[in-house]
Amino acid sequence: MKTCWVELHERRYPIYIGEGLLSAGELLRQHLPKRQVMIVSNPAIADLYLATVQAQLPDKQCDVVLLPEGEAYKTLETLSLIFDELLQHQHHRSTQLVALGGGVIGDMTGFAASCYQRGVSFIQLPTSLLAQVDASVGGKTAVNHPLGKNMIGAFYQPNAVIIDTNTLSTLPPREFQAGLAEVIKHALIRDADFFTWLEQNIDKMIAKEPEALQTTIYHCCQIKAEVVANDEREQGLRAILNFGHTFGHAFEAGLGYGYWLHGEAVAAGMVVAAQLSIALGTLALTDLERIKRLLHRCHLPTEVPATLSMKQCFDLMSLDKKIENDQMRFVLLKSIGDAYISDTVSAEQVRAALRMCGLNRE
Ligand code: NAD
Ligand code: GLY
Repeated sequence: MKTCWVELHERRYPIYIGEGLLSAGELLRQHLPKRQVMIVSNPAIADLYLATVQAQLPDKQCDVVLLPEGEAYKTLETLSLIFDELLQHQHHRSTQLVALGGGVIGDMTGFAASCYQRGVSFIQLPTSLLAQVDASVGGKTAVNHPLGKNMIGAFYQPNAVIIDTNTLSTLPPREFQAGLAEVIKHALIRDADFFTWLEQNIDKMIAKEPEALQTTIYHCCQIKAEVVANDEREQGLRAILNFGHTFGHAFEAGLGYGYWLHGEAVAAGMVVAAQLSIALGTLALTDLERIKRLLHRCHLPTEVPATLSMKQCFDLMSLDKKIENDQMRFVLLKSIGDAYISDTVSAEQVRAALRMCGLNRE
């Protein structure tokens, strides 16, 4: 097992990464010391892993709420199902929530924990690669609003993140690949050596070799933990975690949610952001080629979908919360492993980068 910490003073918390940790009863009980527990999951994940988790907590009042599966249900309405269950089973302020699932379950459980009785504790048991390398760490919690993704939420940190890499064995291959986009993102923004390591080991990662999985997830969590510890509420540095996301969110929404997975859209978005970095004279063309090669090996898209238009992309990007005071703000690369934030990109430069990545319709 590997452990890293998110250093937030009295709210510091550990991230454990290892095989079979959902059955590590002592570890789970160490982070769930109180009598009441509410496990939040969805039916598919519960079928696979709920009994294992419950078996570790025989002496608790261990209630369960299963939410409908999917991003479409990441809403205030679904959130109230958690509150209904907590109240019906008389959970007190000392209760503890457990998020057992991917990023959708993690984001909703965290938000519910931040609101229930003005805040109760929670832990994350992430089961998707994306949640293990990104969503479960850092305390961003939210639900979607019809007018925008993740628009209603809170910064609220878990007490621990326990990552059982064995859960990845049941994750659908396309979901696994989408998670790899966020892995590559972490390397690109902060760690050139890790990017080189990925180039050398991505096949082991795709084959889900345990050592490769643990090393990869550990690196990503360390990178994210360090960024979050420096800038918990995204006043500056934390925005680099959004590398590729301004474009990615536009592609995801433009194609209709569900057509491309989040990670797939981020993959293409990172290529556009890298192309933009070249236009601004900071990134070398050879670096862009390395990025595309690695994404290809993970079967991730590297071009803008042909069905989208320039106007659509711009309209969608201007809705994105990463654009402040009418200023286009982008996360760009100086080189692989070194991201920076720029407020000085012109609309024409953005158009040119999108065209270079296959966007041909005005
Ligand atoms: P998800 O939670 O929808 O999970 C993807 C699919 O895989 C679902 O169908 C889920 O039921 C299934 N699944 C998960 N684990 C499984 C397993 N082990 N075996 C079989 N099936 C499994 O999506 P995701 O990609 O995990 O997360 C995406 C969400 O995360 C988005 O809502 C996004 O906004 C959010 N997110 C949050 C942060 C953050 O910092 N809070 C960061 C990135 C993404
Ligand atoms: N996924 C972006 C963040 O956590 O800040």
